[in-house]
Amino acid sequence: MSTPETLRVIRDEHHALSAMLHSLQSLIRKGPASEPKRFFDTLRAMLFYIDEFPERLHHPKESELLFPRVASKVPATAGAIARLEQDHMRGEAAVRQLQHLLLAWELLGDGRKQALVDAFGQYAAFYREHMQLEESEILPAAEKSLTPQDWAELDAAFSANRDPLTGRYPADGVYEELFKRIVRDTPPPIGLGG
Ligand SMILES: [Fe+2]
Ligand SMILES: [Fe+2]
Repeated sequence: MSTPETLRVIRDEHHALSAMLHSLQSLIRKGPASEPKRFFDTLRAMLFYIDEFPERLHHPKESELLFPRVASKVPATAGAIARLEQDHMRGEAAVRQLQHLLLAWELLGDGRKQALVDAFGQYAAFYREHMQLEESEILPAAEKSLTPQDWAELDAAFSANRDPLTGRYPADGVYEELFKRIVRDTPPPIGLGG
């Protein structure tokens, strides 16, 4: 059987999120230089993206559709899945906290920068470990154990995500302006700016 669409979508979205974390981390370390308005606008747009795509589309589909199927067919994945579920529950609050720290830096000045640098470093490490655990334990277990019927249902759900930062889909509708801005103002590997 060829690689299921679901696995391709999950790996692509992980790749896009890794690139986003990398670009965000280098921007945050560099700071605003002479263009604070553009700098803070860009960071806000990037954190907003993480909240809209990975947090609201990617994780819920893993938790609701993929993990329960894998857990019932491969009981040995229970420990990893429990940890990944905890991570998913923490993720949204963690982005909110970063948004708050960014606002503090913007409104209260450089004295609040280090708090964001530290929190973002922890967040990026947390996410990289999370994606690594999914790719090393859950996706291979799914590939071995799920049936064509399971894949048909999963593929229908995951292929609807259409995250433009994977490079496979145009940004459409309400997201068009957001993605244009992110690509224009963000350093590589995500964008052209910086
Ligand atoms: Fe996940
Ligand atoms: Fe994931």
